[in-house]
Amino acid sequence: MCGIVGVVGKPAKDIILNGLTNLEYRGYDSAGIYLNDLNGNEYLTKAVGRISNLKEKLTPDEQGLVGIGHTRWATHGKPTVDNAHPHFDETKRFYLVHNGVIENYAELKEKYLQGVDFHSDTDTEVIVQLIGKIARDKDLDGFSAFKEALKLVKGSYAFLLIDNTEPDHVFIAKNKSPMMLGIGDGFNIIASDAISVLDQTKTFVDLDDGDVGDITKDNYVIETIDGKRVDREPYVLDIDPNAASKGTYEFYMLKEIDEQPGVMRHISQDYLDENGKPVVEQDIVDAVADSDRIYILAAGTSYHAGLVGKNLFEKFSDIPVEVGLASEFGYHFPKLSKKPFFIFLSQSGETADSRVVLKQVNERHLPSLTITNVQGSTLSREATYTMLLKAGPEIAVASTKAYTAQIAVQAVLAKAVGEKKNVADAKEFDLKHQLALVAEGMQQLVDGKEKVDELAKKYLAKTRNAFYIGRGVDYAVALEGALKLKEVSYIETEGFAAAELKHGTIALIEKGTPVITLINDPATADLTRGNIREVESRGASVITMVAKQFANENDDIVLPEVDYYLSPLVTIVPAQLLAYYASKNKGLDVDKPRNLAKSVTVE
Ligand code: F6R
Repeated sequence: MCGIVGVVGKPAKDIILNGLTNLEYRGYDSAGIYLNDLNGNEYLTKAVGRISNLKEKLTPDEQGLVGIGHTRWATHGKPTVDNAHPHFDETKRFYLVHNGVIENYAELKEKYLQGVDFHSDTDTEVIVQLIGKIARDKDLDGFSAFKEALKLVKGSYAFLLIDNTEPDHVFIAKNKSPMMLGIGDGFNIIASDAISVLDQTKTFVDLDDGDVGDITKDNYVIETIDGKRVDREPYVLDIDPNAASKGTYEFYMLKEIDEQPGVMRHISQDYLDENGKPVVEQDIVDAVADSDRIYILAAGTSYHAGLVGKNLFEKFSDIPVEVGLASEFGYHFPKLSKKPFFIFLSQSGETADSRVVLKQVNERHLPSLTITNVQGSTLSREATYTMLLKAGPEIAVASTKAYTAQIAVQAVLAKAVGEKKNVADAKEFDLKHQLALVAEGMQQLVDGKEKVDELAKKYLAKTRNAFYIGRGVDYAVALEGALKLKEVSYIETEGFAAAELKHGTIALIEKGTPVITLINDPATADLTRGNIREVESRGASVITMVAKQFANENDDIVLPEVDYYLSPLVTIVPAQLLAYYASKNKGLDVDKPRNLAKSVTVE
């Protein structure tokens, strides 16, 4: 939800534009940039739509040695030029970009800013006007006025502020929205994530909620709002900058689908030793093994990975599992077991809905683990323990490789806990071998992608709606397959437990309605075949994705034979590809579906 980049001490324009382009996954309905050349010239440019529109508007003369930029996912006010950031105060002294939501903006406006001339409908403008007003009324320098204003603000924010009376500083503040400080040689850079500016530096400083900072080209000072100095040590981020590039691919989504066999091998190498024993921090294993119930909390695709994880933990760790949508759980806490353990699944590690739950978990002093793809992300820092997904940067808005990595890492943890508890199913399960089979199977499926493209062309080019059905773990995959298809192709798609369809939804089946059917479950394979006949006799066009051991010559996609509990790892691959081709064949921007943002930092 919104991406921000700030630079001080180096020609800023291209660095900011490049960083914002890398951050477009966070929102892309408008963008803007403020540049100051430290010679008395300043430039403010904004555009509706993508960063490319902003680039077109900028002239070569517009340059700066300091600058801030923003790509927006609208929360207050429509995506218009006026509502795009950076916003400025009445006297055009302060320029501000913001990622987050200010809860008390109306109250602040009413109480402190009567008579002020506003140029936008945003909550952010209220804050920059407030900073300006405080600076004028109290005759304060920019940083002091900023801190005074922050004391009045309620909500989430990552702010970058420039005061044009001392333009060689960027002032920053963070609360519940992500922001990293990158340290360069003779320059410093601030961004929503590290990956967006990896071409500039690999040395970063993590910022915590409540931090405010004064950043100049050679120095950074971090304080609390009350002015107490805090030490934040820089570290070198161990990440390959090329991992975030698209290479020869037209879209990141396909690149990320194709990377999944490698991700499985990587997880196997890093989390299992040569004898197949899980390599997981002992404290984590002990804490989970000590619990009487695991609560998995997540949103969207990560929630779907949690549904698969439930099967893994119950089978291999012998611990009951409840999976919750974080947004619901946060405000309707169920009656907890006596010794709960909380697992947060989050690719970004920033999802606001999950943070609401984690906050309450921490208030109750309960143990928690965040499984995330982003080292140093907020949820990982706020939970008791962290495990990394090791999937590499995921850029496409629709999550693919993070989903399969979440399942694989849960399998590792489930086995580790089960082994500690002496659970026979865990001890006997050769996860290393199984993950090798999965990686091989995924490779076969991505190599056969043309077949999926043909299916997309034949069945999905014109349809307005579609269904996914499956039983057991396939039901969980049906939900994820449906989400993938609808979010990138805009085909209204629902995932159903195969037998449920006849309890009402079958009324929607018409001639040609695509029903994508998943079959991996030995206990119900025949029953699901029966469900296929029910919808076919009502005119549905059925696409089957069936495990090799149950497949026949009429099945569309034959899934490689892997353990039933890990079958979602392979079943999802053709489902992801189907979504990808359905979207691409319609000429849509696969990586950036409308209305979406990758990292959802508002509730
Ligand atoms: C869909 C998708 C989203 C995310 C959800 C949670 O493709 O990516 O549904 O899974 O917004 O995000 P994270 O995992 O970052 O917490």
